Amino acid sequence: MMDYRRMSFYQIWVRSFMDGNGDGIGDLYGVYKKLGYIKELGVDGIWFSPLYPSPNADYGYDISDYRNIHKDFGDLDQFKKVLEKAHSLGLKVIMDLVMNHTSDEHPWFKKSCESRDNEYSDYYIWRDKPNNWYSIFEGRAWEYVPSRDQYYLHIFSKKQPDLNMDNPAVREEMKEIMRFWLDMGVDGFREDVVNFLSKRSGLPDGLPFVPAVNGMPFYKDGPHIHEYMAEFRAVCREYGCLQIGEGPMTGVGSAMKYLSGPTKSLDMMISFDHMMADCIYTEYIHRPFSLISYKSGLSKWQYALEGKAWNTLYLENHDHPRIVSRYGSEVFRSESAKMLAVSYMFLKGTPFIYQGQELGMTNIRLMNILLYKDISSINNFYTYHKDDPPEERLKRIHISSRDSSRTPVQWDATENAGFCPPGIKPWFFVNPNYRKVNVKVEEKDPGSVLNFYKKCLKLRRSSKTLILGKYHEYFHLSSHVYMYDRVYKNISYLIICSFSRIPVMVNLPGSYRKREGILVLSNYEKTKPDRMIFRPYEARVYRFRDEE
Ligand code: GLC
Ligand code: CA
Repeated sequence: MMDYRRMSFYQIWVRSFMDGNGDGIGDLYGVYKKLGYIKELGVDGIWFSPLYPSPNADYGYDISDYRNIHKDFGDLDQFKKVLEKAHSLGLKVIMDLVMNHTSDEHPWFKKSCESRDNEYSDYYIWRDKPNNWYSIFEGRAWEYVPSRDQYYLHIFSKKQPDLNMDNPAVREEMKEIMRFWLDMGVDGFREDVVNFLSKRSGLPDGLPFVPAVNGMPFYKDGPHIHEYMAEFRAVCREYGCLQIGEGPMTGVGSAMKYLSGPTKSLDMMISFDHMMADCIYTEYIHRPFSLISYKSGLSKWQYALEGKAWNTLYLENHDHPRIVSRYGSEVFRSESAKMLAVSYMFLKGTPFIYQGQELGMTNIRLMNILLYKDISSINNFYTYHKDDPPEERLKRIHISSRDSSRTPVQWDATENAGFCPPGIKPWFFVNPNYRKVNVKVEEKDPGSVLNFYKKCLKLRRSSKTLILGKYHEYFHLSSHVYMYDRVYKNISYLIICSFSRIPVMVNLPGSYRKREGILVLSNYEKTKPDRMIFRPYEARVYRFRDEE
């Protein structure tokens, strides 16, 4: 079993990572070229968002063939080359696995639509009459199919029919798919919306006035979830592979059942509490950023899992806008990007870095909703607050769209940011700040966000305390400063992050006041350790050693 506690991962959403064959779409040829870059960053593995064939209703999360590679990205041979080279560089490779639903273009679904009594009829969830659930992405959660004279359930888009996990044949299929990739040599899975797999029997109606998620109480952490998860765990155990589950809306209480004790079925869970400090479930309801809510979201998981289970640590992925634009400041882009890195990377858990996060990439603001690609942003625009003027609605999209994290990675200052050749139209807009914010510029600048991420990863990796030490938060009611320490044997690290755009005075906790700490990391060049005035978005990491 790999020691994932020491590790850190880089997430690739391949369509926007690097175009290697010059058609404007990121692909595995591009990944192959950039594996050295990922290695240099100092991570230990890659999580690939889905690479499988997909009609892209939800950009890969609607899979039409689980045993192949999307033709836009290459083919199985190219994937094997990437895998082999990644392994030779010491990088693990984690595949995304979507078990809750397939594409409506998957052959299983096509067959299932044909009749009520074929081999695939019960692969999906069919009803004569729909209940009142809404879909997370669009309208009602049920779609009528005339050939069966029935409705199928789709918690996400109507092109993502939910699989019927209660059918043992479906679970067998999933296990075979896992084996297919594990036999090829992949090192584990990031399991998509894994807590939605088991639905309450009878599918009871939800509250009628709660849009998008009114069925959630009946499909989240459902009655058979731990039995099904145990089956998948058994396969993974044979291979010693890593399992990371995505758990939307899961609180620590229910997460612990997946992460520890007799029902343990995951090594880590992707939690959401700290990602809701400026919104409720990413796109639906916005609020101003609250540091207290960010801190309490993190601390809740840190305390609850201590000694019992292991956290994932992340601030960005393909489902969230850029963190600098959310929790930091585009005015203090570089300072706040670095401070945010410090705020999460030294927590207890395995850090994940999403492509472009290490550059301090920011949100894109397109002038018309028609330019957006993401189904959930488009739905958000047309569904919620319909009476608001279009400018207001577009402003919400600028703040919340998942498309902001899906703009091409900025490699250099040439046309198309070096993502694809000049003269070729990239599949999606490049953020106009690419001349300033890009890999080439940042590699050369010792004070760049990129080089700061490298420093953070190196520091974390070098210290047992930062990997295994106990977490404690100080001044949790401060609305300017996030302060915590990590303690292991006689070493402690004190991490202090200012979220203020004006200077703030910081007090040390009593237990640290008389001790001599060494400043081991800071996002400002000259920091006198004795001056406790923090500049805008300043972050410092101090190391203390007790006499034994
Ligand atoms: C997960 C994915 C997201 C996708 C959804 C439905 O939340 O991360 O991108 O839209 O599941 O598959
Ligand atoms: Ca390409």
